[in-house]
Amino acid sequence: MAEALRVGIAGLGTVGASVARVLRDKAAELTRQCGREVVVTAVSARDPKRDRGVDLGAAKWFEDPVAMAQTAEIDVFVELIGGDEGPSRSSVKAALEAGRHVVTANKALLAKHGVALAEIAERKGVLLNYEAAVAGGIPVIKTMREAMAGNSVTRVFGILNGTCNYILTRMEAEGLSFDDCLKDAQRLGYAEADPTFDIEGHDTAHKLSILTSLAFGTRIAANDIYMEGISNISQADIRAAGDLGYRIKLLGVAQRTESGIEQRVHPTMVPTASVIAQVHGVTNAVAIETDILGELLLSGPGAGGNATASAVVGDIADIAKSRPGFQHGPVFGLPAKELRPYKKAQMRSHAGGYFIRLTVHDRIGVFAAIAKRMADNEISLESIVQHAAGPDTALQKTVILVTHETTEAAVRRAVDGITRDDHLTDKPQVIRIERAE
Ligand SMILES: NC(=O)c1ccc[n+]([C@@H]2O[C@H](COP(=O)([O-])OP(=O)(O)OC[C@H]3O[C@@H](n4cnc5c(N)ncnc54)[C@H](OP(=O)(O)O)[C@@H]3O)[C@@H](O)[C@H]2O)c1
Repeated sequence: MAEALRVGIAGLGTVGASVARVLRDKAAELTRQCGREVVVTAVSARDPKRDRGVDLGAAKWFEDPVAMAQTAEIDVFVELIGGDEGPSRSSVKAALEAGRHVVTANKALLAKHGVALAEIAERKGVLLNYEAAVAGGIPVIKTMREAMAGNSVTRVFGILNGTCNYILTRMEAEGLSFDDCLKDAQRLGYAEADPTFDIEGHDTAHKLSILTSLAFGTRIAANDIYMEGISNISQADIRAAGDLGYRIKLLGVAQRTESGIEQRVHPTMVPTASVIAQVHGVTNAVAIETDILGELLLSGPGAGGNATASAVVGDIADIAKSRPGFQHGPVFGLPAKELRPYKKAQMRSHAGGYFIRLTVHDRIGVFAAIAKRMADNEISLESIVQHAAGPDTALQKTVILVTHETTEAAVRRAVDGITRDDHLTDKPQVIRIERAE
C-alpha cells in the first residue's frame, strides 16, 4: 500500500474539529477508498488547552499555522481558520509555496485572493481544493469544474446563505417579523451575534464570485457585485408575494447578458411552483443553466460542522487518490493566467419583471399619477392591485404593481418620479422577479 497521506489541520473550530473527527471515525473506509491511510499528523489553533471534543492522537501541535504549512511533516495543509487576511492567507500562501496541497473552506479568502493563490498552486503543481467554500456540503465546485466540460453556462443562481433562507422561511410560515426571526436564528446558532455579513448579502456575494469565475472563466471580482440584503423585507412583502404566486428568496445570480456579466445578490421573487422555491430553512441550493445540459439544481446542507466536513474530507480524499507526478486540473476550471477580466453589466441595464409596493395617500388622482409614471417610462403592467393599508386605512392605501419585463433604469426613474409626486406615505419597496423553472 502507498505511504499514508499526512494531513495538517489549521483551525479546530466548528469545521476543523468535525474534519478531525470524520477522518478518525471513517479511517477504515477512507483507507479502502483511497488505497492509502489518511492521518492527521499536525494541528494548529489559538488555544492549545481547549477541549476540541475529538482525540487528536499523536498529532503535533503548532502554535503558528505558517510554520505548520511549511513543515515537511505534512503533505496536505487544511485551512479552517477563516478570514481573508492574516493567518489564513499567509499560511495558505506558505503551504502552496512549500509545494503542499491545500484544502480550504474559506470563501472570503478565495473571493479576495483566489486567483493569486491559484497561480501559485498551478506553478507548483499542487492542488488547491475548496469544495466546502460554496454551499457547504453540496458538491457544486466538482460539478462545475469537472462534470460539465464542454457546457457553456448562461446563468448560475442559488440560495447560498442558510441564515437568510431560515429567516425568510419562518417569516412566511409563521407570519413573524424579520427582527423576531433573526433573534431566534441567533438563539439557535444559525446566525452570528453580528449578523450583518450574512443578512446584508456579503457571504452570498463571496460564494457567488467563485461560482461566476467557474461559470464564465473570469477573474474573481467580488467587490463588483450588486448587493441588497433582506433586512427591509416585511410581512407585507411576504404576503403580497404569496398572493401573487411568488416566494421571496435571497438569491445570488450571475448571468451572461449582451452588455456583460451580471453579478447580483438581492431579495428575489421566484414562482411558488419553481423547484428553488421549495428550498426551505437552512438548506442551500444552486441552479446551473447551460446550453447542453439545460437546468440542473443541486440542493442540500450548506453549513454546519458535519456537512462542511463532508466536503473537506472529499477534497482530502481526492488528493490521497491523485498519483504523484500527475498534472492536476486548474483551480478555477481554466488556468489562472487565462481567466479573463470580467466585463461588468451595469445594474441599470438589468432586464426582468418587478414587484413594486407603494403606500400612498388615499386621495383622488394618485392612481392615475402612478399609472402615468409607468407609461412615461414604457413600463407595461401585468397587474395592479389596490387595497387598504395599515392602521390609518381611511388615509392611506397600498398599491401593488407587477411589471412585465422592463429595465432597472426604467423602474428606478418611475419610482423616483412617483416619490417626487409626493403621494407616498412610506418608502417604496421594489423587489426583482427572477425566472425559475
Ligand atoms: N461553520 C460552518 O458551517 C462553515 C461552513 C462553510 C464554510 N465555513 C468556513 O470554514 C472556516 C472555519 O469556520 P468555523 O465555523 O469552523 O470557524 P470557528 O469555529 O470560528 O473556528 C476557527 C478556528 O480557527 C482557529 N484560529 C483562529 N485564529 C488562529 C490563528 N491565528 N492560528 C491558528 N488557529 C487560529 C481558532 O482557534 P481557537 O479554537 O483556539 O480559538 C478556531 O479553532 C471559515 O473560513 C468559514 O467561512 C464554515
